Amino acid sequence: MAIPVNGFSKLTKDQKIEWLAKNHFINKEEGKTIVAQYWNSDAKLQLLHDEFIENTISNFYLPLGIAPNFLINGKYHTIPMAIEESSVVAAAGKAAKYWQQRGGFKTEVLGTEKIGQVHFMFYGDNSKLETFFSEIKSKLIASTNDITENMRKRGGGITDITLRNKASKLNSYYQLHCTFETLDAMGANFINSCLERIAKTFKEEAQHFSLFTTEEKDLEIVMSILSNYVPNCIVKASVSCKVEDLNEDKNLTPKAFAEKIVRAVAIANAEPHRAVTHNKGIMNGIDAVVLATGNDFRAIEAGAHAYAAKSGSYKSLTHAEIENGIFKFWIEIPLAIGTVGGLTSLHPLVKLSLEILEKPSAEELMQIIAVAGLAQNFAALRSLVTDGIQKGHMKMHLMNILNQLGATAKEKEYFVTYYKDKTITHSGVISAFNSLREKDAS
Ligand code: MEV
Repeated sequence: MAIPVNGFSKLTKDQKIEWLAKNHFINKEEGKTIVAQYWNSDAKLQLLHDEFIENTISNFYLPLGIAPNFLINGKYHTIPMAIEESSVVAAAGKAAKYWQQRGGFKTEVLGTEKIGQVHFMFYGDNSKLETFFSEIKSKLIASTNDITENMRKRGGGITDITLRNKASKLNSYYQLHCTFETLDAMGANFINSCLERIAKTFKEEAQHFSLFTTEEKDLEIVMSILSNYVPNCIVKASVSCKVEDLNEDKNLTPKAFAEKIVRAVAIANAEPHRAVTHNKGIMNGIDAVVLATGNDFRAIEAGAHAYAAKSGSYKSLTHAEIENGIFKFWIEIPLAIGTVGGLTSLHPLVKLSLEILEKPSAEELMQIIAVAGLAQNFAALRSLVTDGIQKGHMKMHLMNILNQLGATAKEKEYFVTYYKDKTITHSGVISAFNSLREKDAS
């Protein structure tokens, strides 16, 4: 049972591990060994990881996989993906190959606007607030000049501030809705610093606005924070080909296959239970690249799901149609990511991932990530409407089951061949494994 502890963060790393071993590990020595096994032998590199967060005790590995052959706007890309789910990289590779032979992926950035808001309460006359805002708007922007200087030099900065009256949703609630262009940076720190300065200036200026009553001068700043909902920071990725080129060779005509994909997307649009899983499959591809490139996958997830629900009901992030004999499949998704700042120059594997991607700009990376999501969804739907998902999934999962059973390299090789033409189930693998061991023992 967990016990409370004071001043944990002040303990040394060794003391923290000792505390854990004493209070939480079932086998004290074994737990300590696992923690130490995952340390990096390069002390400098370990310290770098230690300092990413508070109370680091070890490193938590995810596999970094590679999905090659992504033809995007006529150029090949090799995509790094950090993910633990067995079938995701394999599915990406398959979809890449499939569309490589059908013209590849096309992409387009539709917008790069980031958003931040100062949330405040104003107890007074709305028209006076509007007058106040229009008088001090340029002052609000100017008050951030020292923060925005470098960004402005590069062509970015604050693009606008509007006053939004939200009192119909919550009594006396208003916002300063601020929009930003942050170029190759994700920009969270930049945006939050600007917002906090804007809020401070706003509050100070209100004290001196002659038309305000004492109560009005006392407007209450509640909080200043960027929004992870960025419906104008959008990228589109698509594939298309003649329906007849969708030759599946899986007891389905190309037309029937195309229609099934269109129907599968229609089902996700009609039914939120399906849409959530459908979009989860898309995020398998997206998160993996977002993580490998050192971006914030929680921000991307939150924004993507909000976008999926923008119509008022939760729908598919991808779209499919057949028009004049052409099959079209595409995604539109908000992706506020960066290729400079944050972890991008700190984490050696993030740096390497960006190198693999040929040091993309944020806009280029948005396009690559959207493609990874679209490819993943195509691969999932392709399996779902033909053989079912389990065949491919269990093929990739076989290694996990064999590892759980402690199979040797020779046994793994045997079972990969054995299961080439058989259905893989968890219990089936266990019993085949036990039979092999019994046979070998006799
Ligand atoms: C599994 O991680 C993802 C899928 O469930 C996605 C889908 O159903 O579309 C296969």
